[in-house]
Amino acid sequence: MNEAPARRASIRRRLLLFLVGSLLLTVAGASFVSYWVGMESASDAYDRALLDPAIDIAENIKVDAAGARVDLPRRAVEALVYDHVDKVFFQVRAESGRIVDGVDDLPPPPGALEVDQHLFFDGVYHGDPVRIAALRASNGFVVQVGETLNKRNRLVKEILLAGLIPTLLVAGVSIGLAWVGIARGLQPLERVRNHLLSRRSGDLSPIPEIHAPIEILPVVDAFNGLLGQLRLANELQQRFLANAAHQLRTPLAGLQMHLELLSRRELPPDTRAEVGRMHGATARAGHLASQLLALARAEGGSDRSHPSELINLRTVADDAAHRWAPKAIARNIDLGFALEPALVPGDALLIPELLDNLIDNALLYTPEGGTVTVATGQREGTPFLSVEDTGPGIPAAERGRVTERFYRVPGTAGDGSGLGLAIVKEIADRHGATIEVSTRDASGGTRVRVEFLQRAPAVGTVRARQG
Ligand SMILES: Nc1ncnc2c1ncn2[C@@H]1O[C@H](COP(=O)(O)OP(=O)(O)O)[C@@H](O)[C@H]1O
Ligand SMILES: [Mg+2]
Repeated sequence: MNEAPARRASIRRRLLLFLVGSLLLTVAGASFVSYWVGMESASDAYDRALLDPAIDIAENIKVDAAGARVDLPRRAVEALVYDHVDKVFFQVRAESGRIVDGVDDLPPPPGALEVDQHLFFDGVYHGDPVRIAALRASNGFVVQVGETLNKRNRLVKEILLAGLIPTLLVAGVSIGLAWVGIARGLQPLERVRNHLLSRRSGDLSPIPEIHAPIEILPVVDAFNGLLGQLRLANELQQRFLANAAHQLRTPLAGLQMHLELLSRRELPPDTRAEVGRMHGATARAGHLASQLLALARAEGGSDRSHPSELINLRTVADDAAHRWAPKAIARNIDLGFALEPALVPGDALLIPELLDNLIDNALLYTPEGGTVTVATGQREGTPFLSVEDTGPGIPAAERGRVTERFYRVPGTAGDGSGLGLAIVKEIADRHGATIEVSTRDASGGTRVRVEFLQRAPAVGTVRARQG
């Protein structure tokens, strides 16, 4: 149904991609500009340095009877065109094209030169790229000085590095800062998520907007709207269930009363048996209606309709003792109590309901002559309530399912409806309490233990929820 997209959209990835992309573009642009400006001025300087020896040579060209020559000692000429990095070549050419001095195969300038005019051009000499300065002296001779590009290439690298390293550094730091910044910026989302995760199941109260940054407020609002609708639907359903169960209980109680009256009359034995069965079935139907009502109450309503107060589990168990004693005696079961005070914030109607369902099961499923013990108290600061019996026990594999609605362990005798432990779970959930189903001891039996929240923080929690 909801196939995950190949790659989920991520705010972090989009922001980073955008940022890294634009930073890289900026870095490339800035490097290019600084490279270009640097190169222009540096190669101007090198060009001028190349022109100087050409001028010196041109000034020393002598023409006499012996012909034209450069009137400088050889060593002076060599010094003029010496460079410790590059190979430098020169050439002096007469107007006629005759080479007067220097190498004879330097590439010629791309165009004709006026007298006293000079130019620079790129060429190739013996397979190496070279830069050449060409100058036409006033006496018509063309002097060219060329050099290989080692110096210039080294400068290109230096300029590039000098420009790039700081820019890359700045870019790297910016991306790092952006990474941290985005993580921090997204923290409020994490807070909302944690808030949602920390809710108890079935909590449909709105998400407090203080948790949400402005940017996701619309989402939170929409979500709260949805929660509101769910709450309303839930309430309607619970109200319906409660009303239906309540409406059923009254006629069932009437029916039961009439059957009791009927059974007091003188009746033929088979009719009496029939009336007895009808009475039993009516009692079960009444019980079911009561349980449905209890479930609706446990689930539902708002917290406000059942004010939360501090309840002593011991008092609750004490009250239950009176209610259940007759049934225990009738079934010849030793119903015992081991009660220590245990204060829990809770609902004064629901907690007795929870205990009643546990005792009901224990008395129902424990064979005659057995023992049922109700205990309350604190264990390591945690208030608890437990009911144990010497009955058949609940198989380990079934312990997870017995709290489901209408679930009964297959083969269970009696005619329960499977709602008792569901009610217990619902009430426990509502109080943030946990249920643990285990065996009473090595010889079997059932022990159901309900652990409530520790008192001090629990009061705050419950109050906060009421808010
Ligand atoms: N004290 C107990 N001893 C043995 N089995 C129990 C006990 N309590 C509950 N059970 C098992 O768990 C099932 C679910 O219990 P419950 O929700 O109260 O439904 P019901 O009692 O109506 O069957 C029961 O059908 C029974 O099999
Ligand atoms: Mg039951």
